Amino acid sequence: MIRSVVRGMGAALPRRIMKNADFEGMVETSDEWIAQRTGIRQRHIAADDETTASLGEAAARAALDDAGLTPADIDLIVLATSTPNNTFPATAVEIQNRLGMHHGFAFDLQAVCSGFVYAVTTADLYIRGGLAKRVLVIGSETFSRILDWNDRSTCVLFGDGAGAMVMEAGEGAGSITDRGVLAASLRSDGTHKDKLYVDGGPSTTGTVGHLRMEGREVFKHAVGMITDVIEATFSAAGITADDLDWFVPHQANKRIIDASAKKLGIEEQKVVVTVDLHGNTSAASVPLALSVAVADGRIKKGDLVLLEAMGGGFTWGAVLLRW
Ligand code: ACO
Repeated sequence: MIRSVVRGMGAALPRRIMKNADFEGMVETSDEWIAQRTGIRQRHIAADDETTASLGEAAARAALDDAGLTPADIDLIVLATSTPNNTFPATAVEIQNRLGMHHGFAFDLQAVCSGFVYAVTTADLYIRGGLAKRVLVIGSETFSRILDWNDRSTCVLFGDGAGAMVMEAGEGAGSITDRGVLAASLRSDGTHKDKLYVDGGPSTTGTVGHLRMEGREVFKHAVGMITDVIEATFSAAGITADDLDWFVPHQANKRIIDASAKKLGIEEQKVVVTVDLHGNTSAASVPLALSVAVADGRIKKGDLVLLEAMGGGFTWGAVLLRW
């Protein structure tokens, strides 16, 4: 059977790093509050010349280099983002053009922080359905552009960046020992819209708007939703937490990550944490964390890796894959 196997990873971050202490003169907050409540110590913030498209392009080029491929080898680009360069055309098509790619097809996918998990699942289905042999899956965001910089309850939480993954068709035996995507579970529920949303849009205000979040409410639902979808994925694959080599969760808050891992019985040393370095980069957070753990040699060929995310909508999901 066809399996969608990871062939390369790449990342790109804006040049400017903003430390927690840099907020102290802007809003009433402190390095201590931010670090204790969230685990965040710094985030990257895009300059005017750094956009979702430029960061996505840079991450894509890095992933292609890592895979030993060129844009000519790619059939499809799926970009997960909630901060596109323009309302339309899709930023994925802009990245396709920036890569000098004038064949195949590209589209954006919008599931907020769950975007990359949804995009990997989408790419897997295109590959297994025979519509694409190689897919560039990108998560790229410039959340700094939709933040209310006067709202201390949200502006300290987010950062900008991009991560990219090359996935390609491989052969599998249909067993859990195959390389590639093995199981996935996706969910959404719009009753939670008002807990995390952007208060603008083309069809309502005609403006871009700003991110609004009831952080405590999001926190309250996060751990239960994350563990439900992971248990569904374990059950579909016939595995338990003990079989995992690595858990790569969405990087929103260290307390949510710790509580989810604890509830699932995933040992602390198997959890990849980068929220301290990047903040919450929404759809870019999982591929950025993966890039770090692949680059430093933790995630290796043959490892069993669990990806998870939860975000605005609410949307949430998990993907199990063998590297
Ligand atoms: N600095 C100092 N004090 C602050 C700050 C700040 N930056 N922000 C809020 N506070 C204050 C609040 O005003 C409140 O004060 P009060 O008690 O006088 O009213 C107090 O700190 C406690 O606020 P809480 O909201 O209860 O703090 P909490 O411990 O819940 O932490 C946080 C807030 C970090 C936002 C947390 O709720 C959280 O992480 N929520 C989940 C966010 C998340 O995971 N989002 C993921 C999805 S993101 C996406 O999809 C785009």
